[in-house]
Amino acid sequence: MNIEITKPVGEIATENPALIPLLEELKIDYCCGGNRSLKDACALAGVPVEQAVGSLERLAALASRPKEETDWRRKTMAELSDYILEKHHTYTRSQLGRLKVLAEKVVQVHGVRHPELAGVKGVVKEMAEEMEGHMAKEEEQVFPYLKAVEKAGGKKDGIPNPFQGGSLENHPLKVLMWEHGMTGEEFIELRHMTGDFIPPQDACQSYRALYRGLRELEEDLHQHVHLENNILFQKAMQANIID
Ligand SMILES: [Fe+2]
Ligand SMILES: [Fe+2]
Repeated sequence: MNIEITKPVGEIATENPALIPLLEELKIDYCCGGNRSLKDACALAGVPVEQAVGSLERLAALASRPKEETDWRRKTMAELSDYILEKHHTYTRSQLGRLKVLAEKVVQVHGVRHPELAGVKGVVKEMAEEMEGHMAKEEEQVFPYLKAVEKAGGKKDGIPNPFQGGSLENHPLKVLMWEHGMTGEEFIELRHMTGDFIPPQDACQSYRALYRGLRELEEDLHQHVHLENNILFQKAMQANIID
């Protein structure tokens, strides 16, 4: 198959979920910046575009052999939001809870020799609070509304608007996408602070577990944001449920 360099990278990931691990490896942003063309996304990641296209096309050819990848475009909004909640929100909550405890412990033990750890702990704490508020808005307002309108065949009449008077009053989906971008920025900051999550030679097990856990959370968050920005929210906008 041909991969066009002018195509938005989020669309490439949606059409070929099997390419997501390679996009991760190449550090090409397909979630928060999913509307950028592959060419621009490669330039930002510092990856030569011809090389990326070659690798993506080879992998796409391998992956086109029968192997069941879920095509989320064909799922209902109810199925998508239930999946996001069960798979990604549950994980994000437990992982951030665990990372907060680990960061606290690691700062106490290694904070003097590694002053960057205090910054890491601060970002993790802030991120945990922001994500909690963000996911609560999705779970309590956005997902139930999308499901209710979908169940009513796209008709909004008689379904109470949950966004009035709250922080999602203006353009609920744009607010959420902006928040996704903020979390993405925090991960960039964490990568700067930690040298791409590579622990120093003298790091103990908890120190290593903290960096590994952050890396895992970042990867999960990319897939989480991809499903929301590029698939669920697109469906909601295309159906004029929330614009
Ligand atoms: Fe979410
Ligand atoms: Fe979200």
